[in-house]
Amino acid sequence: MTRRKAIQDIIKIQSSTQNCGAKAYACSNIALIKYWGKRDITLNLPVTDSLSIGLNNYGATTIINPSKKQEHTWQLNNNNIAKNHAAYKRLCAFLDDIRPDAQTFYDISSNMNIPMAAGLASSACGFASLVKALNQYHAWQLPASKLSALARIGSGSACRSICNGFVHWHRGIDKNGYDSIGEALKLTWPELRIGLLCLETKPKPISSTKAMLQTQSTSDLYSAWPEQVKKSLPCLLQSIKEHDFKRFGEIAEHNALSMHALMLSARPAIIYSTSKTWENINKIHKLRSQGLAIYFTQDAGPNLKCLFLCKDQQDVTDNFPNMQVIKVFDD
Ligand code: PMV
Repeated sequence: MTRRKAIQDIIKIQSSTQNCGAKAYACSNIALIKYWGKRDITLNLPVTDSLSIGLNNYGATTIINPSKKQEHTWQLNNNNIAKNHAAYKRLCAFLDDIRPDAQTFYDISSNMNIPMAAGLASSACGFASLVKALNQYHAWQLPASKLSALARIGSGSACRSICNGFVHWHRGIDKNGYDSIGEALKLTWPELRIGLLCLETKPKPISSTKAMLQTQSTSDLYSAWPEQVKKSLPCLLQSIKEHDFKRFGEIAEHNALSMHALMLSARPAIIYSTSKTWENINKIHKLRSQGLAIYFTQDAGPNLKCLFLCKDQQDVTDNFPNMQVIKVFDD
């Protein structure tokens, strides 16, 4: 099955109307149980389930208009993206697969209000908002589950950015991935806070896709990962339902460190953490030993995302003055 066929099978609409313009927003998301490993590279089908939290007002807005040229154009935060840029090529390949016919070209304008250097999965909210905007533009009227499947094909973790709040991405069993979608959980936790510790701004040494595949194909420890996720995810879910913050933080932190342990055991080893990352991890552990309830998670990069409750916000920010705090649920 080609990627275009998989996408068109999800949309399953013979003719689509074309509106004059469309605009849609999608929040960024941070995984608490990570997606690390693909069972299908073309369709971004994961080896395991994963679970994330949406970043509410932090994300991407995509505006689509018909292109007057015979090509797609892309502006990101008001800058034209050059046609030889890898991100432009990735976007166009997706647009070519999702457009109804070869005569359709789009002017895409994306605006992101997330700190771009903080490792906040800009591709996740970017692809999710793009798919939502395309749904409007062509009046497809697809349900969230289908939008999630389409976003996943654009960028795996984007399937968790179609909705806000806690999202469970089910790995699914279908070989074409129709059941590999993000499910919005009806759970809230208004006291929960995410604190971004942006420690490095250099581009990462290796992309998450490359790192994932390298881990999967070379780490002897990888075989233990699916089992670990299977055990941890229901426990995390339970901790969210019970608002058991200690358990929640412990599971999320353990999951992130385990993912990095897998990468360390890959050949060659993949090392995203820098001395600043370790310095801050040690600081978090020390504060915790002194009684402050703060935990962290870390993605494919050196920056940390801290987890804490609003009652501790003052203490946390006193210790980390450069931290950007995100309130993930409205009251
Ligand atoms: O969706 P991708 O290809 O950007 O991969 C995301 C990988 C992690 O951020 C490390 C984990 C996750 O589940 O978001």
